Amino acid sequence: MKVLIVGNGGREHALAWKLLQSEVDQVVCVPGNGGTATLKGCNNLPLPVDDFQGIAQFALNHGISLVVVGPELPLSLGISDYLRSQGITVFGPTQAGAQIEASKSWAKDLMQLAGIPTAPSQSFTELEAAKAYIQAQGAPIVVKVDGLAAGKGVTVATTVEQAWTAVEDAFTGAFGIAGQRVVVEECLTGQEVSVLALTDGLSVRLLLPAQDHKRIGEADTGANTGGMGAYAPVPIVTPELLDRIQQDILEPVVATLRARGIDYRGVLYAGLMITPSGEPRVIEFNCRFGDPETQAILPLLATPLATLLLACSEQCLAAAPPIKWKPGVAVCVVTAAQGYPGAYTKGQVIAGIDQAEGPNVAVFHAGTKLQGQQLVTDGGRVLGVTAWGENFEQAIARSYAAVEAILYEGKYYRQDIGYRVKTVGG
Ligand code: AMP
Ligand code: GLY
Repeated sequence: MKVLIVGNGGREHALAWKLLQSEVDQVVCVPGNGGTATLKGCNNLPLPVDDFQGIAQFALNHGISLVVVGPELPLSLGISDYLRSQGITVFGPTQAGAQIEASKSWAKDLMQLAGIPTAPSQSFTELEAAKAYIQAQGAPIVVKVDGLAAGKGVTVATTVEQAWTAVEDAFTGAFGIAGQRVVVEECLTGQEVSVLALTDGLSVRLLLPAQDHKRIGEADTGANTGGMGAYAPVPIVTPELLDRIQQDILEPVVATLRARGIDYRGVLYAGLMITPSGEPRVIEFNCRFGDPETQAILPLLATPLATLLLACSEQCLAAAPPIKWKPGVAVCVVTAAQGYPGAYTKGQVIAGIDQAEGPNVAVFHAGTKLQGQQLVTDGGRVLGVTAWGENFEQAIARSYAAVEAILYEGKYYRQDIGYRVKTVGG
């Protein structure tokens, strides 16, 4: 079976790696990265992710059984609609479904309709109205640009003035059309958890909960990033809490999407805040696999991934086998380029990956490319160094030993990935 994966990050490398461990014998990554270029059984196809015609033509000419779409951008531009119209089997929601990530006000309206627990909010297109609401609510308060902003569109403001500035920035074009509307919402406290569900639009199956580390600095300080590391599962998410998240959040959202006539086959990712009293509240939904969460979740998956993705794509998930997990835990430490999430350089030679990898360690490439035979850095997040083990202490130690073995100029990583669970067993 041949699978085509759209995207070029660590998430896509991890998906390719996992698919090739089961019934998939060939993967093509569009456009892929240095990791997917060197993975046995995987090739890169250098097309942009929004070249829907080129991707369809390749899939039809090369006997591709399934297309898996990684990033939100092509989903929000309608890649699934187009490929399905050409008769191609696709894992990924339609453009209408991708609005759950591509428009925060749309997602908020849907949550209200479905009775989903989330922070109270209002959306605005007028500066004065937004400022008056912020002043009335007081700080801390959260300002979000409505559209896709590569993870940079959220300001958790500690003062009213900061929130005002965030709205002014959005309305004066700092985020282009993504910022023409803003959502202002209550600031939640607690621990953030990512719960990803596979769905065929009819039923849902939850993956292991994961926790991302979004800030650049230790102890969750400094700027927000795409994610500096992740672990799975999350001990504070008990089986009872996970059941609640399924029944009170993920199932009602899928039912509401279906009631609106939206064809949603893919991942529904709930970014949750577990409040100090243990209540799950939705911070956001994403229409795709999380990155780096996926790198920590997939090594623990025992059920063949292709079976699950095909069952979602062909709308027969209810008949698929239950998802089984390997015992133990996994931890992914992201190594970045010096300066990320600000300006950084590319093209640094990377060495030591062979020494870092082992029976319990996989190095997923995020921002790398092959320059001739030489692997070089090619992005802000460079590698996702992932290890698994019986407990977090072991997995964290293995992951950091592997990180140490990898060498490139300007390697930066957080030293404390998994700090909340370091002493917790698997
Ligand atoms: P998002 O882009 O929606 O994932 O938001 C980025 C980050 O902002 C989240 O991961 C949270 O850390 C933070 N955030 C978003 N909404 C809230 C909220 N209502 N309360 C507190 N923090 C939030
Ligand atoms: N790790 C956060 C995300 O995938 O959006």
